[in-house]
Order: sequence, then structure tokens, then C-alpha cells
Amino acid sequence: MSDAGTTTSELVADLVALLGPDGWLPPDEIADRLIDFRGVFTGTALGLARPASTDDVAAVVRLCAAHGAAIVTQGGNTGLSGGAIPSGRRPTVLVTLSRMNAIEEVNIARSTITAQGGVTIQAIQDAAAAADRLFAPDWGARGTATIGGGIATNAGGINVLRYGTMREQVLGVEVVLADGRVWNGLRALPKDNSGFDLKQLFIASEGTIGIVTRAVVKLHPLPADHRTAFVALRSLSDLDALFAMARAHPPGALSAFELIPEIGVRQVVERFDVVRPIARVADWYVLVRFSGMHGIEDDLLRMLATASDEGLIVEGVVADSAQHEENLWSLRDELTATRSFGGFGVKYDLAIPPDRIEEFLALASDAVREIISDAVPYAFGHVGDGNLHFTVLRPDGDDRGLEQRAPEITATIDRIVWDLGGTISAEHGLGRELRGRIVGQKPSVEFELMRTIKSALDPHDLFNPGVMIPDP
Ligand code: MLT
Ligand code: ZN
Repeated sequence: MSDAGTTTSELVADLVALLGPDGWLPPDEIADRLIDFRGVFTGTALGLARPASTDDVAAVVRLCAAHGAAIVTQGGNTGLSGGAIPSGRRPTVLVTLSRMNAIEEVNIARSTITAQGGVTIQAIQDAAAAADRLFAPDWGARGTATIGGGIATNAGGINVLRYGTMREQVLGVEVVLADGRVWNGLRALPKDNSGFDLKQLFIASEGTIGIVTRAVVKLHPLPADHRTAFVALRSLSDLDALFAMARAHPPGALSAFELIPEIGVRQVVERFDVVRPIARVADWYVLVRFSGMHGIEDDLLRMLATASDEGLIVEGVVADSAQHEENLWSLRDELTATRSFGGFGVKYDLAIPPDRIEEFLALASDAVREIISDAVPYAFGHVGDGNLHFTVLRPDGDDRGLEQRAPEITATIDRIVWDLGGTISAEHGLGRELRGRIVGQKPSVEFELMRTIKSALDPHDLFNPGVMIPDP
């Protein structure tokens, strides 16, 4: 056996001794963790470490550091940029916090929850609701995605429009550093001007500089009422006017504004237990939700009546029961191209200034069809905050042929996005997928600063090598 092999087998033996039989899974038992949600990225690992405490995590980090093995921390493995799949550059230990899944405190007076990194988003939402509060982050993978992963990726979702991204919800974090030290930054102070706000470094760091083992997150008042409507747009060119109207009538009522295309409705209704919301078939629909303390239904009906009088919408329905509303949101949750179309297509997580979304779609669709004449541009998402999920598909869902032309399509889309003042990563992070592509988008000094932070906090490139930070 080579030296490297010896070292690796020693490391595995040490990890098994440290974590016990429940704390370690060999590679042949973790196949589902070595491929990402879309089936695009695969990796290899020495095994999966399942620490049960922060001290265990720190000990795992120290052992890996001593043996020169890399560490990739994986939350729910629902990320869409390949950031939680080992890149295979070095022997790697995959780490999950799935056994660290305790909600440690629900503090009603402070409106906070303290949770271990492996708690799911849904579990935090439920604990908050039980205390008559709202934990705002919400997206389709809520039942699987974890708070540690959500912080590491600064996850977005459908509530960003009103409450901001994960970054805005985090008051404090506990982090295991690359040398095994634990930084307890759980001070949950809304005001703390006592130096660098270090927790911000770890939010959106994609596991490259530390492992978030615990967090204190902010809760909001639970809106007493909410109503969701599904409306057919007369034309995409009315999107902006409808958004302005929903935001202003009355101010503060709008809590979600999602664009849905007819091809998405068709696919989801065919594949899942979801009912077509309205008879009218249009090219584009919007799912709009109002939330607030009182009179929300009247507000929403008034706004929709005005939108209809002004010709912005041609038909719509307001959910009149919990089941009705669930149907509308299930339709939205299943729009992810991998779920609704099977094939993964070529996907983009873009942010475009909201008033330029129509322009983007026209330019991008033409450009894509010039490269592949029968390509299907598929767009949906959180347009209220400018975040458009855009995927290029083949009509039959067969990805063959796309792969070859993907670089050309991507270069074209990126250029259009940049020309319109957008970004190529709105909420999915850079991961392995976008870390090269981002280089053209920002001044090089930003990447130099990122590399400086990385080498200061993780000088031996222990955490998530090959992810997020572009090579020099
Ligand atoms: C979603 O909003 O459904 C996901 O973030 C997007 C996607 O699947 O591209
Ligand atoms: Zn999304």
C-alpha cells in the first residue's frame, strides 16, 4: 500500500474510533450523497462522517488536517451548483450534521431560535409557527435542506421579496475553523458594532472556510392571514405593471410574486398530483400572495379587480381553502426543471433588474434558438426580487445534443445578463458549476480578496477545495 493509502486508511480508522459505528458510513453506503440533486455532479469520498456534537466536528477537522484530507460538508444535498459534492481533487471526508438536529431554544421574548446545523428548514418553520412566529426562509426543498446548508449558501426562495435572504435572518453562528478551534459567535444582538461582523464571512461561504455547527436566527411576527391568487397575464409586458400594483395596493401586503410559464403548468399537472388552477390558458401566470394582519383578502381582491380593469390580467383565482392554496404552491414547488421535465437541461439562476426581465427573455430566447433551433427556453421564479430561473431544454426532454452546445449557449446568456446589469448567480451560489464563469463578471480585486480570506482562514485548503473561489 502507498503512503497515501496508509495515511488514508489510518485516517478512516481514527475517524471510526472517534465517532463510533453510528458516526461513520463507508463509500458504498453513501452513493446518494456523492451525486447532486440534478445528477450533474458526482464525486468520491473516503466515507461520511456523522458527528454528534460540535466537539466531534472539531475533532474530525483536526484529524483530517493532520492527514491532509479535504472536508466537504453537506446539508440536505439539495444545492443546485454542485457545491456540496467533493471535487475529487484530494482524498475527502464528507461530513453531515444530520445527527446534530436539535432545536436548542425557541426564545419568544427575543423572537429567535437557536438550532444545530443539521435541523431542516421545515423543522425551524414549524417550531416558529408553534410559537406564533414566522421563520421566513422558504423554498421547495424545505423538508430536506438544513439551516447549516442554508447559511453556507445564503439560500433565497419565495419570501426574499419581503424578508430578505438567509443573510438577513442570521443573528449569530458557531463555526468550527480549519485548525479545529470553535468560534462561538452566537451573540444574538441586533446591534453590535464591536469590529468586523465575522458571521457574514461564513454566510454564503459554501463551506470553504469553516463548518457552521449552530446558529441563532431571527423570527418575525406570524401574519394572521394570507391569501394566494393565481392569475393569467394578458402579456409578459404587463408583468412589471402588475408587480408595481401588487406592491403598492396596499403597501406592505405583498409577500410573494412568482412567475410561472404555461409549459411549466402543463408539465407539472401531467406529472404530479396538481390540478390546473384556471381554465384559461395563457403564456404566463403569476402566483401572488398577500400576507398581513387584517383584511388581506379584501386587499387582494381589490388589487386584482384593478389589475383586471386595467387589462393586466385576463383571468385569476384566489385560493379559498388551505387545500386550494396548497395546490397552487405545489404547482410552484414542482417547477424545478429536473422535476418537471426530467432532463436537467442547461440551467441558469439569474438576477435581472425586474423591469428588464421581458427584454432578457426576448433576447435570450432568440439567441438560444439561433444556436439550437428547437431549443425550449423555460423560465420561472422569484421575479419580485428579479430572480429568474432560466433553463434551456430540448422539446422531448432528451438532453443529448445540449451538452455539446452548452458552452456556447452559456457564453451567450452570460453576456446578455451582464449587458442588462444582472448576475449569473442569484441564489444558488457558485459551487463547482459557476466558479470559473463568474470571473468575467467582477473586478479581479474581488477574487483576490476572496483568496486572501480563504488563505487566512484555511491556509491548507482543507474545506471544500475546488468550490466557489476561482483559481488565480
Ligand atoms: C426554485 O425556486 O424552485 C429553485 O430555486 C430553482 C430551480 O430549480 O432552478
Ligand atoms: Zn429559486
